[in-house]
Amino acid sequence: MPAPPLRLGVNIDHVATIRNARGGRHPDPVRAAHMATAAGADGITAHLREDRRHISDRDIERLANEIQLPLNFEMAATPEMVAIALRHRPHAACIVPERREERTTEGGLDVAGQFDTLRPLVGRLVEAGIRVSMFIAADPVQLDAAKRLGAPVVELHTGSYCDHEGAERDRELARIVAAASHAEAIGLECHAGHGLSYDTVKPVAAIATIRELNIGHFLVGEAIFVGFETSIRHMRTLMDEGRRGAAA
Ligand code: PXP
Repeated sequence: MPAPPLRLGVNIDHVATIRNARGGRHPDPVRAAHMATAAGADGITAHLREDRRHISDRDIERLANEIQLPLNFEMAATPEMVAIALRHRPHAACIVPERREERTTEGGLDVAGQFDTLRPLVGRLVEAGIRVSMFIAADPVQLDAAKRLGAPVVELHTGSYCDHEGAERDRELARIVAAASHAEAIGLECHAGHGLSYDTVKPVAAIATIRELNIGHFLVGEAIFVGFETSIRHMRTLMDEGRRGAAA
């Protein structure tokens, strides 16, 4: 039996990073979202950070109104972000940890440790019909906590798998494999992302219980050399090649 399909969510945050370097309108992340659609993306992901360092409130409004693909709104678990999510009703909301001083989302959310704070916020999003995912490390304690919280989806942080090499990378991958099967066993849909590139995507795509990958920085960086559509199409090809090796 073939593995279930693997969706590609294209994260367009860093198109906005380049735009913001000069403060004008170019390059436009909404145009990038349309290009990603044409290149075969299954969804668009954007993170409205508390400091608005890349995606802006206006970008989210335009993405919610103008794109055809499902929007995955990445957000910190704050009342401000919950209010924005409830205003725009994206298809999905991915709850991520956020610290102002970090360069990117450095680790997974401590769902177990912040359970009581997260519960009402996640509850409001779920009640509004938004598909909530929790961005967590590949750790069974966090998966179980996400399940108890009532989130239907988890996204596993692949950053340390991508940052390491050799035996350490293999160990990180084994953790992701184990976490993805634990997610399935307890009835959570499993996604993955962060730091994925042409070099690292295939083994993750080969994990049959992972249903979606969210990829951004590498695709936008590679677009400088080959164009955005080409970078997305090549990533899609590698994902499909990896998926063919999946044990269903
Ligand atoms: N998934 C989540 C939850 C993220 O926060 C990010 C980064 O914004 C990504 C995926 C994509 O990571 P990258 O830009 O490194 O591909």
